[in-house]
Amino acid sequence: MSTAVSDRLTFRCPDDWHVHLRDGDTLALVARQTARQFARAIVMPNLAPPVTNVAAARAYRQRILDSVPVGLAFTPLMTAYLTDRIDPEEIVRGHAEGVFTACKLYPAGATTNAAAGVTDVRHIDGVLERMQAIGMPLLVHGEVVDDDVDVFDREAVFIEKVLAPMLARFPELKVVLEHITTREAVDFVAGSGPGVAATITAHHLAFNRNAMFVGGIRPHYYCLPVAKREHHRRALRAAATSGNPKFFLGTDTAPHAVSDKENSCGCAGIFSAPVALESYATTFEEEQALERLEGFASEYGPRFYGLPLNEGTVTLIRRPNVVPEVIEAGSLRIRPFRAGETMTWAFEERG
Ligand code: DOR
Ligand code: ZN
Repeated sequence: MSTAVSDRLTFRCPDDWHVHLRDGDTLALVARQTARQFARAIVMPNLAPPVTNVAAARAYRQRILDSVPVGLAFTPLMTAYLTDRIDPEEIVRGHAEGVFTACKLYPAGATTNAAAGVTDVRHIDGVLERMQAIGMPLLVHGEVVDDDVDVFDREAVFIEKVLAPMLARFPELKVVLEHITTREAVDFVAGSGPGVAATITAHHLAFNRNAMFVGGIRPHYYCLPVAKREHHRRALRAAATSGNPKFFLGTDTAPHAVSDKENSCGCAGIFSAPVALESYATTFEEEQALERLEGFASEYGPRFYGLPLNEGTVTLIRRPNVVPEVIEAGSLRIRPFRAGETMTWAFEERG
């Protein structure tokens, strides 16, 4: 159903399988930006405090729904934040009640608000066993945090030391390795069974680690997992555009105020929601694979999660599209991904 002519691209309405919608004042801004392009989104639970129980997830889901502009149909799919002491019964109940779609594994200390994460995956074997039994996906931030492991090796080491042994213990567990950044991750996911998939962000497809150091330190290109060498980016681009249903769209849109990014200890995260589909379309076009964008954006994710495909469409138009330097809401200022760039695709509408 995808139609790509020279100036118009219409395809089935996509979903975003990894977003940080935040809370409080930020929520209204970022929920609108995500709901503009996507019908559903997997919502990360790394709030302060994190979303670790059914009541908190229900309340957060309601705050999200209250923030979405009237007239935009948007379904937030909630996740539970796993901790060393998480109660398996709470997870199973949340899943049965339709509140928790999946669980999120943050290694303790790996990223923003991950301090309460898991210190050793063996501590959550009881939960993983139950999740495997009920077919509930585990979403993984795949990085080790050991001081003696180089920052750029954290994902590859995690796969070898943590993920592979975990899947050996739970071979039927559904796992999404989130925001992959390495050739090792691509190879691992491609070589695993059908229960193992990965999301790929727009930004990891667009730049390599050099972008953080062009003429000085560039905090707006800093995210976690951090961007890697060019050959890894090439592997990600090949995977995303391959038509392999194990690889699907997850922006990891992660807004931080400009003042928290341009800081002596700048936060990790890239606010890609305002230009998400434009950015993916650019990559797919560069790879001469625009006809595969629909599968990646709108089909493989729902199939993996066992959800129906969306009914509506989205349309992008080919025209010069200048990305704003900053997006403001009240006193909040956030710099979007590709700020100041002129993109060749512009989001037109969700139909
Ligand atoms: O860059 C990132 N930002 N990576 C993450 O894993 C978390 C996210 C955030 O919440 O800011
Ligand atoms: Zn994330």
